[in-house]
Amino acid sequence: MNANPDYKNPALSPEERTKDLLSRMSVQEKMAQLTQVWGLEQMVNLGMPHPKDMAALGVGSMLYVRNAEDKNRYQKVAVEETALGIPLLYGTDVVHGYHTAFPLPLAMACSWDPSLIESAQHVAAKEARADGVAWTFYPNADIARDARWGRVGETMGEDPYLSSRMIAAEVKGFQGDDLSSEESIAACLKHFIGYGACIGGRDYEQVNLPESELRNTYYRPFAAGIRQGVESVMTAYMDLNNEPLTASRHQLKEVLRDELGFHNLLVTDAGTIGNLITQGNAKDGADAAEKAMNATVNMDMGSYQYLQNLPQLLETGQVTMEQLDEAVRPILMTKFKLGLFERPYTEPGKSETLGKDPESHALARKAAQDSIVLLKNKNDLLPLKEDSLRKVAVIGTQANSQIDLGAATVVGVPAFAVTPLEGLKERLGEDRIRYAQGPVATRTIPNFISQFIADFGLESPKPQSEEEQTAAIEEAVKTAEASDVILAFLGESGDMSGEATSRSELGLPGRQQELLEKLVATGKPLVLVLIGGRPLAVTWVEEHVDAILMAWQPGREGGRAITDILFGDVNPSAHLAMTFPRSAGQCPQYYATTLTHQPVAQQPQPFSRYWNEFSTPLYPFGYGLSYSRFEYGNLQVSHEKVARGENLTVSVDVTNTSSMDGREVVQLYLHQRWGSDTRPIRELKGFEKVSIPAGETKTVTLAITPQDLTYYSTSKRAYVQDAAAFDLWVGSNSNAELKGEFEVVG
Ligand code: BGC
Repeated sequence: MNANPDYKNPALSPEERTKDLLSRMSVQEKMAQLTQVWGLEQMVNLGMPHPKDMAALGVGSMLYVRNAEDKNRYQKVAVEETALGIPLLYGTDVVHGYHTAFPLPLAMACSWDPSLIESAQHVAAKEARADGVAWTFYPNADIARDARWGRVGETMGEDPYLSSRMIAAEVKGFQGDDLSSEESIAACLKHFIGYGACIGGRDYEQVNLPESELRNTYYRPFAAGIRQGVESVMTAYMDLNNEPLTASRHQLKEVLRDELGFHNLLVTDAGTIGNLITQGNAKDGADAAEKAMNATVNMDMGSYQYLQNLPQLLETGQVTMEQLDEAVRPILMTKFKLGLFERPYTEPGKSETLGKDPESHALARKAAQDSIVLLKNKNDLLPLKEDSLRKVAVIGTQANSQIDLGAATVVGVPAFAVTPLEGLKERLGEDRIRYAQGPVATRTIPNFISQFIADFGLESPKPQSEEEQTAAIEEAVKTAEASDVILAFLGESGDMSGEATSRSELGLPGRQQELLEKLVATGKPLVLVLIGGRPLAVTWVEEHVDAILMAWQPGREGGRAITDILFGDVNPSAHLAMTFPRSAGQCPQYYATTLTHQPVAQQPQPFSRYWNEFSTPLYPFGYGLSYSRFEYGNLQVSHEKVARGENLTVSVDVTNTSSMDGREVVQLYLHQRWGSDTRPIRELKGFEKVSIPAGETKTVTLAITPQDLTYYSTSKRAYVQDAAAFDLWVGSNSNAELKGEFEVVG
């Protein structure tokens, strides 16, 4: 055999190298490349094949391999002990950091700052790549409109426009301009498509979405990531309109590939080819593998069905050689683009060193500062005046539990976060702080996934008996009574959001509500910092607590960032990327529903679609306060009338009328008054985050393009731009009042 075959020549293009390599591969070698195997020891204990044997077989990829040493060990087998030496591609879920834990994605979406998210994911990519992970199964481009769903925290929230801008930024952050760079990894948009709309917010449940919803909302963040050149896409677990996505030729070939223009690596979610049997769609493994091949799925994540069934399917002609080649091609292309043939190995320790970079930690702190949403600030209780505080009561489990703050990022990577208690001690000194943990809230039903992946090297807070909780509440109240101010850190523990982690009610878990009511009853000034991975329905809190911050899971530097905000070193500037409902019963709750025959706003007040509570949300999409005050005025719309296909612009003056420099997220919403279909009450169509010094005015100009006015019409079965009148609003949330209008004619 030629010692220097073309595929080993880095001077050739990935296309040329792939072509050459394909021409040399046996059928067995091709089939093996289509398989991704579990590299986690626990999985081997559960009866999965050992990764080393799989490397010898020439499988394409492994997920969850723990450390650089193991990766090098298996890689050596693939590169040096197989005939063609095709390197393994290691993937894992790098969601909000690797060593440096950034805030949860939904939190970062609240920054409304795509460049921040791009920089954060660049740091994550650098640290991951240095540890041999060249592929992340992220970003999660699902639209999340139901706070009960456990995975909302992985998404960019409910809105397709905001989500599209953020998803594109994430892809750019991971992939950079050159995938072969040591600072880039391949990104993966998931889960195609509609996963966030699982009925009842119950994870893994079926999804029913009409064409208009898919096209006007759900495909859009994927389309944005594909335009950004994303290297891979993952299929969703569930079935959509009764069709399992991994078997859906319509969704995967006709929409994803042909329409949205995605031609790279399409991987399944974990085990989904095998799941086709469990779901009652495939008769057996062969049927499942055939269906997935027919739907143009390239890689089987962990179900081993391709490996087991493709030989038979090729023999009978149910899968053709051409199909096999087409399936392998993108996998090889990704490996060439990543430069894996040139640099298959990893330097142990390099990633850990990168993880200590103070610049990355500073970025994590900024990301957390810019993700914390100020929900309420009655009588300007915040920022706290440091000098007047002699005794500060810090209350709550979430004040001092790293695991609840999003410290854990990637399976096998040690977790770390500075807690609020530590951040406050750094700032105020030990002497002024009195800490009481309060009652520990725990899940009533454990997560089945934790048996494989719970190991982040951090202890969860110790569960308490009822008596211990009662005593903890008493102690917390005593601590509060003896202090000048109460800083309460309550909300969800780390394991209360995430995969297989939906909730049927959205209040403060466990006995935290009881604790909070007692703290409020002390009459002391009280600031509540909410921690957690989803919007919480804290209606009582809104009515009774003067200052509320939503800090989400703020990551490594969360404790410091919260302290920065509490004392006004940093002025809050985040705005909600997801509506806060008043109760779980309101879910799904989102702002962009269509206008009905009974519009809520036109009714005599109080009007509600429920008789027991208002149907409006607790906090609307886009909402967030600042220590500054912003006034909007002088709204100018460039045209009263435009022809179809023409652009227009909207400008507005935003004045910071306060004495504190601040940042505002200026948001533009549109409503189309009539047309082919009914249209949303409001839809976000533009935004800009601006810094406005105290007392100054900034003019912000936002563009409206024909694209922004085009939608998929059910009545026309086509994308249309109607001739119609439009209302527009500019302001600081989705209830913005400053209003303009224009008309599209022709
Ligand atoms: C999740 C995916 C994830 C995969 C691998 C699945 O259970 O749905 O989002 O990428 O596991 O960790």
